[in-house]
Amino acid sequence: MIIRGIETSCDETSIALLKVDGSDLHTLSLRTYSQADIHAVFGGVVPEVASRNHMQKIIPLYQQTIDEAGIVQSDIDIISVTNAPGLIGALFVGVAFAKGLGYALKKPVVPIHHLSGHILSGELDNPSLKPPYIAMVASGGHTHIYDVNNPLSFTLWGRTIDDAAGEAFDKVAKMIGGKYPGGPFIERLALEGNPLAIKFPIALRDTDNFCFSGLKTAVLTAVNKKEFSNADIAASFQHTVAVTLTNKLIRAAKTLNRDKIVLAGGVACNGYIRKYLSERALEEGITVHLPSIALCNDNALMIAYAAYRITQGQQLDKYSDLGFAAGDTRHNIDV
Ligand code: KG4
Ligand code: ZN
Repeated sequence: MIIRGIETSCDETSIALLKVDGSDLHTLSLRTYSQADIHAVFGGVVPEVASRNHMQKIIPLYQQTIDEAGIVQSDIDIISVTNAPGLIGALFVGVAFAKGLGYALKKPVVPIHHLSGHILSGELDNPSLKPPYIAMVASGGHTHIYDVNNPLSFTLWGRTIDDAAGEAFDKVAKMIGGKYPGGPFIERLALEGNPLAIKFPIALRDTDNFCFSGLKTAVLTAVNKKEFSNADIAASFQHTVAVTLTNKLIRAAKTLNRDKIVLAGGVACNGYIRKYLSERALEEGITVHLPSIALCNDNALMIAYAAYRITQGQQLDKYSDLGFAAGDTRHNIDV
């Protein structure tokens, strides 16, 4: 079975082809075009600009995946597309394209919730990973912990009550002269700083939720005081986020009696956080599964894989009705 994945929810245009052969997964092609440099000039993603760039890139990327995989269009069995959540104009591009393909090729089109893609992305690199496990999506829009307790049930366990972790990285980077996206900028600068230089506050210590506004204010105060270098501020901020995410993940795993954790989403690209979480979890006898960097950032392979997981054992007929809308959030997942 060959599954086409399409992802255009934010500023990455991504197209994939995933082949599923029994329990073997083969990536036939994954092409992702990041618009990050285009949006960096504006200090964040400009929705209209994102939609226009998706429009320009989607067909060339689609053709590249066909050429790389050496298949013909009719070899595809399922078309999957992110239909929520995201920038509505950006989602429209992917959804309209997927529907056009489905209509022309007479193939089912499976709408996928973007978070389902991130949650399940840990399984793509680790085929032996099976539920139950704890999954965190830490990205520009979400900091959510899920209990993945059977193949298709994602139970929301804890979430941010204000900013997402990635958003905090982006805003802190702006405070110290970095461009969007802030995560990679902070990570690079932090290499020259001391993670223990400044003791920033950790909010909501005794709950399952997150809150980053106090940390952001504390960083701004440190920036204004000019007592510490930007490198020390970056390193101490990054360390605080690492401790915060790790504490909550270990707390969730212990409470729910899970021995596996997946960290996914753009923030999961961060080498310091990956290492810190892995080391702390090891001390607790918990295994951490970290998707490869290409699968932490927004990508269409995770969407194709989610479609495979979600449709497994199902009749595909119900996906022949192309009447679903972009942005429609009636999904099997709490956010
Ligand atoms: O999952 P993603 O690619 O898109 C969303 O669905 O939001 O995540 C993007 C977010 C941005 O806020 C970006 O600053 C953050 O992930 N990010 C990082 C790193 N790389 C990207 N945060 C921390 N460290 C990184 N290396
Ligand atoms: Zn994402």
